[in-house]
Amino acid sequence: MNSRTPSTRDSLPALSIALGLAVGVFILDAMTPLGMAPQMLYAVVLLVSVWTYNRRIVKLLAWLCTALTAAGLIFASGTQYETAIFNRVVSLSLIWLTAVLALLYMRSEERLRQVNLNLEQLVSERTAALIQAVEQRERLGRDLHDDILQLLYAAGLNLKAAVPPVTRCPPDVAGQIRHTMGELELAMQRLREYIAGPRIPAGGEPPVGVALANLVQNMAVSDRPRFNLNLQPGLSAVSLPRAQTEHVMHIVREALSNCARHSRATQGLVTVQRDNGVLQIEINDDGIGFDPDDARRDGHGLANMSARVEEMGGILSIASSPGQGTRIMVRVPCAEEVRP
Ligand SMILES: Nc1ncnc2c1ncn2[C@@H]1O[C@H](COP(=O)(O)OP(=O)(O)OP(=O)(O)O)[C@@H](O)[C@H]1O
Ligand SMILES: [Mg+2]
Repeated sequence: MNSRTPSTRDSLPALSIALGLAVGVFILDAMTPLGMAPQMLYAVVLLVSVWTYNRRIVKLLAWLCTALTAAGLIFASGTQYETAIFNRVVSLSLIWLTAVLALLYMRSEERLRQVNLNLEQLVSERTAALIQAVEQRERLGRDLHDDILQLLYAAGLNLKAAVPPVTRCPPDVAGQIRHTMGELELAMQRLREYIAGPRIPAGGEPPVGVALANLVQNMAVSDRPRFNLNLQPGLSAVSLPRAQTEHVMHIVREALSNCARHSRATQGLVTVQRDNGVLQIEINDDGIGFDPDDARRDGHGLANMSARVEEMGGILSIASSPGQGTRIMVRVPCAEEVRP
């Protein structure tokens, strides 16, 4: 796409042709008898003048043709003055009508060129922003790989080295350490997936119920709080699109993590059901509760939760108050089929 503004140099070829035509029409006019009307050909001069891309030149040529039409009256031979004057008045009308149309055409062409220029600028700005975003993501990926991932590797190795021999270690401590190492491995795998960018898994998405069951089992590290999943029968066969499954998993993981970290609850229950194309996920705990309006400022978890629900076009509600436990309710559209 190239919509640069035409320069004076672009006007020269059309201007030369227009002036040549004007001189030619004038000579023809001077040589033909008065009763004839070759001056009407001046309209062609104005048509050619459009390609000078210069409205001032078009106006000047219109005045030149007007002057030449009047001057032709002096040079042409014959005695039919009445007819000649009538012809010239008609010619002048034709000249100025053509000039006005040419000027209107040029003005709309200028506007179009301007719109085109603005669009080109917008496209190049957007392209630059996109390139910047891609570069930023690549830089972030590099940093995550070289910094955070290496720290996690080191933490994993240290943890491995720290595990006492099975005989000298209480079983629950060994279990906790193994569980933590598993979590670390999972975190590193997630980071590697993020760095590599989005990919469609070969075998399709696991059903949301299965993924949630795994998640709840993985999050249940200790006896307090004890996590349970209450899944509506049939939901273990429902697969959601990858993005939606990821959102749901992140939301439930964050709610359970908050429950484990902040609630001092004895129980955490995840209930999932689907009704009329709406997936409803509820996470309840019997802990100390909190004031949701104050809490949003403290961390990122609840804000991320709300952003994810919004992205899915759903509704998030948090019911909690000090001493009353917490109930997080997520309702999102879910039009997926049940797989056999
Ligand atoms: N189930 C819960 N029981 C009690 N308090 C909670 C619960 N969930 C959240 N909170 C309170 O809400 C606050 C904000 O939670 P949020 O998840 O946004 O941040 P965070 O967990 O503190 O940090 P981050 O999630 O960013 O690591 C918590 O600090 C905590 O005080
Ligand atoms: Mg949190």
